[in-house]
Amino acid sequence: MKNYLKHHPWHIIEEGFHREFHEVSESICSLGNGRFGLRGNFEEDYSGKSLRGSYFAGVYYPDLTRVGWWKNGYPEYFAKVLNSVNWIGVRIFIDGEALDLDKTQVSNFVRTLDMEQGLLTRSFDLNPPSGGQLTFHFERFCSMADPDAAAIRISIKSEGYQGKITLEPYLDFDVHNKDSNYGDQFWDRVNEEQDDSFSMVSAITKKTAFTVSSFMHSKVEVNGHQVSIASSSVAPMKVSRLYKVDLKKGEELILHKTVVNLSSLYVHPDHQTEEGKKKLGENEVIGYATMKRDHIEAWHKIWDGADIIIDGNVMAQQGIRFNIFQLWQTYTGADARLNIGPKGFTGEKYGGSTYWDTEAYCIPFYLGTADAAIARNLLVYRYLHLQKAIENAAKLGFKDGAALYPMVTINGEECHNEWEITFEEIHRNGAMVYAIYDYIKYTGDTSYLTDGGLEVMIGVARFWSQRVNYSQDKQAWVMLGVTGPNEYENNVNNNWYTNYLARWCMQYAIEQIEWVKQNHPDKWTRIKQTSEFKEEEIGHWQERINGMYFPWDESRKVYLQQDGFLDKDLMHADDLPASERPINQKWSWDRILRSCFIKQADVLQGMYFFEDHFDEDTHRRHFDFYEPMTVHESSLSPCVHAILASRLGKPEKANEMYLRTSRLDLDDYNNDTEDGLHITSMAGSWMSVVRGFAGMQVKDGLLHLAPVLPAGWEGFSFKIHYRERSLGVTVTGGHCDVTLHSGQPLEIVVNNERRQL
Ligand code: BGC
Repeated sequence: MKNYLKHHPWHIIEEGFHREFHEVSESICSLGNGRFGLRGNFEEDYSGKSLRGSYFAGVYYPDLTRVGWWKNGYPEYFAKVLNSVNWIGVRIFIDGEALDLDKTQVSNFVRTLDMEQGLLTRSFDLNPPSGGQLTFHFERFCSMADPDAAAIRISIKSEGYQGKITLEPYLDFDVHNKDSNYGDQFWDRVNEEQDDSFSMVSAITKKTAFTVSSFMHSKVEVNGHQVSIASSSVAPMKVSRLYKVDLKKGEELILHKTVVNLSSLYVHPDHQTEEGKKKLGENEVIGYATMKRDHIEAWHKIWDGADIIIDGNVMAQQGIRFNIFQLWQTYTGADARLNIGPKGFTGEKYGGSTYWDTEAYCIPFYLGTADAAIARNLLVYRYLHLQKAIENAAKLGFKDGAALYPMVTINGEECHNEWEITFEEIHRNGAMVYAIYDYIKYTGDTSYLTDGGLEVMIGVARFWSQRVNYSQDKQAWVMLGVTGPNEYENNVNNNWYTNYLARWCMQYAIEQIEWVKQNHPDKWTRIKQTSEFKEEEIGHWQERINGMYFPWDESRKVYLQQDGFLDKDLMHADDLPASERPINQKWSWDRILRSCFIKQADVLQGMYFFEDHFDEDTHRRHFDFYEPMTVHESSLSPCVHAILASRLGKPEKANEMYLRTSRLDLDDYNNDTEDGLHITSMAGSWMSVVRGFAGMQVKDGLLHLAPVLPAGWEGFSFKIHYRERSLGVTVTGGHCDVTLHSGQPLEIVVNNERRQL
């Protein structure tokens, strides 16, 4: 764990440059606006360890799969969300020496991520050998008000310094992915252009032909007087312009660099130059200050609906805001072609591809903090991929419209290349259906069922019915050779979570088919036709539902994570020496697989999903059995435990898990923040507060709250969107206020008592 960032309710502050954690800070200081984003790299040169990363939503490359031994069924490629144009670059020379914080000594270094306003700032003092002092201040943002725009302001103030400063703002498209399988360059040059008013560079992705163009305008002033460009240069994939200044004592030099970034997802390549120039011109007219004001206003609107205020605990407050901030920077819900990558725009590992994380974790967040249309867009994304999911299943030998959604995808095709995960972690198929159920339960909107949802359910139910086989030995339907959510077990038989989810998916599909038949017979006729549904399928599913096998230990009265789980040497994670954790960085894979240690909620994930199916004692027994063996080395784990612990009246555990989920990256619990942030699990932090501490659930069409106040908090409050209403919830010691901010009167249930709003 690391503890070098200051605690503050709205800011993430690094005081003094922590060179050793620079890549961690780069991840944490990432900025984005849903369309594009970048790591918190420095504008100027930096020769120390750094991952320069700039990414555009939906722009990817199918990097040829690299494996030791090819197996039939492997995906051809692993989709990479591409590292693209460096649009922040500004080289700075002081008396001919390049500024490089890996080499140049500076003092009073402060780097601040202002989450309230969406600004990244940095300042420091430098004493050049020629004498005097220079004070630097950097500020930048990716506009939330205009998703194509970004801007940078750099101020250099002389205190007793006199000498030559050269500034070279540039755009550089000669960029490589660090995680490229064969060291390929994924971009081909398109063109570069430059004149007095603008510079631009454009490139196209190999194979996928996405075109991205970046445009910049720069302006330099000394004490308010404009400095003209000394020279400019155009080279393949790179454009730059040079400003030379003789800075005198007491003077301030200011550079404004405004940027427009366009991708072919939104602007046809033939029109990008014209559009980019136009937008750049418009932004020049409104100016940096107005762009910044509009951007801050856009953030204020987001915070107004999505903020969680925690009183009396700055660490907890900073954690949750950091999570909400990063989620909204990654996905704003405006485009059903996009989704939420586990690392968003903050790193390459896992890229911006879509995992089951979206359905299991992110959808509840967007349901609660935004209009239902956003969560619906995420559901539609999977409906648009249904045909590919059917093809994906067919490649593995399934038939008759069975659908297997990919574990990792960017366009509907499976694109992960680890056997145990790609093929065996089939539980993700159930999450697709669970998300539809969650959406309908929360919003009360059943229209999605007949607009695609039911077809997804039918495809998934068909898959499960073919994936199980009848065991004569057990006289039950079993599911062999799977990996559950706990990836520290591979190729197991009868993973309880997967079997349970599979049975539920078949049951839910039958119920929804009946409902649509009754309520929308005309639509059912269409769905039946498009999915080539045969009535006898229901009988097949029912047979499996009735006879599904679940591993169970009678003496402990717990469901077993999988067959044979009790053969393991059962130990508590707390008994592991700190020097051996995280085990995925300290132990061999062989040792991990044999151990009892659980990477992330597995049986407990199912208990969380289907809370109402089990009584409190059953929940408690399972939590007490599995949680102590859980090492939480997946970011998706602590939040589920925080929610369950909170509901089971285990405030200390709930608090510990809450801090772990909400501060996972800020404190670098798993020693991997340098690879990028854990964006999807950030939705779990929100769930920990709203579904955990506030106990929010929808049961029988009614919104329930059962709040508890975590130890060390004086109170907390948040707003939620619920069925076309905005509600405010404030919890203080022994008190819960619920306010209806907008929408029709509503009946809710607080601590089992019905209340009218
Ligand atoms: C987890 C998966 C998750 C993936 C992406 C893995 O470490 O085990 O459940 O889908 O990360 O977040």
